[in-house]
Amino acid sequence: MQTRTLGRTGPAVSALGLGAMGMSGEAYGATDRAESIATVHAALEAGVTLIDTGDFYAMGHNELLLAEALRGRDRDSYQLSVKFGQLRGPGMVLGGQDNRPAAIKNFLAYSLTRLGTDHIDVYRPARLDPAVPIEETVGAIKEMIDAGYVRHIGLSEVDAATIRRAHAVHPIADLQIEYSLLSRAVEADVLPTLQELGIGMTAYGVLGRGLISGHWSPGLVSGPGDMRAHSPRFSSGNVEHNLALVEALRRVAAAKGCTVAQLAIAWVAAQGTGIVPLVGARTRGRLAEALPAIELDLTADDLAQIEEAVPAGSARGDRYPAAHMSSLGVGN
Ligand SMILES: NC(=O)c1ccc[n+]([C@@H]2O[C@H](COP(=O)([O-])OP(=O)(O)OC[C@H]3O[C@@H](n4cnc5c(N)ncnc54)[C@H](OP(=O)(O)O)[C@@H]3O)[C@@H](O)[C@H]2O)c1
Repeated sequence: MQTRTLGRTGPAVSALGLGAMGMSGEAYGATDRAESIATVHAALEAGVTLIDTGDFYAMGHNELLLAEALRGRDRDSYQLSVKFGQLRGPGMVLGGQDNRPAAIKNFLAYSLTRLGTDHIDVYRPARLDPAVPIEETVGAIKEMIDAGYVRHIGLSEVDAATIRRAHAVHPIADLQIEYSLLSRAVEADVLPTLQELGIGMTAYGVLGRGLISGHWSPGLVSGPGDMRAHSPRFSSGNVEHNLALVEALRRVAAAKGCTVAQLAIAWVAAQGTGIVPLVGARTRGRLAEALPAIELDLTADDLAQIEEAVPAGSARGDRYPAAHMSSLGVGN
C-alpha cells in the first residue's frame, strides 16, 4: 500500500483510508458486526492504516466496534481519525454542533475510553459551531495535543476562510470533506487553499454514498434510517439522471479494464498528492474491490474521458438534505 502524508506536519497514512461509519447504525442499511470486524482486519492486512470514525456514529457504537476490531494491535500500526461535536437527542434527533473547549475535553475523554486508547491521531470537529470561533476550538485541541491525548488537528466541511483562521492557530493536518465526481465544489477555493497552506484532504463520499459505486439502482434504499432515503441525489427524478452518468462512467471503466467504483476512487486520488480517499467499505467484498483503485494510474486521456462522462456540476440534487446544507462550508 502506498502512503501519503497529511499536510506538512501531519502523519504518513495509507493512500486509501477506511471510513467506518456505515458499520454502525442504519445509515447505509443493516450492519453485520462480525463482517465489519473482519473488514477492518482485512483492511489492516492489506496495508490500510487510516481509519475514520465519529463519536456520534450510532451514539458511540462505532468507536466501541473499532475498539473490538483493533484490540491487541500495535497502536503505532494504524491511525485513528475521530470527529466530535454533533449533538443528538433521543430518537437520533439532530441537535447542532458543540465546539466549546469544555465540551471538546468531555467528548475526547469519552472517545478515548470507548476506543480503549490513550491518544487519537487526528481529532476534528465534525462541523463548525457558529457560536464558537474556530480559533477557540483549535486552541482547545492544541491543549489536548500538549497533554498527549491528541497527535494532530483536522477539520471537516469548512470553507477556505475557516481553514486559514484555524491553520494560523495550529498547523492543520487535513480537511475532511466530500469530494467525488458528483461533488466538486471543493475545487473552487478549498482545494487551492489546502495546497497553498500544505494541508491534506481526506475525501469522503468518493462513491457518492454508493450512488457512483456501479452497484446502485433505484429501490435499494433500505428504510427510513438509511440516509439515502432523505438525500436529494437519491430522490426520484434525480437518481435516474445521476445513474445515467454512472452508465457513461461504466463505459470508460470497461475500456480501462476496471470497475466503476475503482475509477471513481482513482479519480479522487488523482486530483492531488495530498488527497487520501476514504472508502465506506462495510464488507470484505467491497473492500477487495476498492483496494486496487489506489494502484490505478489514470492518464490524461483517461481523465478527459471521465470528465466527458461526468462533467463537473452534472449531478442532479444537493449532496445533503436542505436543512443540512447551511452547516457545510461549500455547496455541491
Ligand atoms: N466528515 C464528514 O462530514 C463525513 C460525512 C460522511 C462520511 N464521512 C466518513 O467517510 C467515510 C466513507 O463513507 P462515505 O459516506 O464517504 O461513503 P462512500 O464510500 O461514498 O459510500 C459507501 C457506500 O457505497 C457502497 N459501496 C459499493 N461499492 C463499494 C466499494 N467497492 N467500496 C466501498 N463501498 C462501496 C457501500 O457499501 P454497501 O454497498 O455494502 O452498502 C456503502 O453503502 C465514512 O465511513 C465516514 O468515516 C465523513
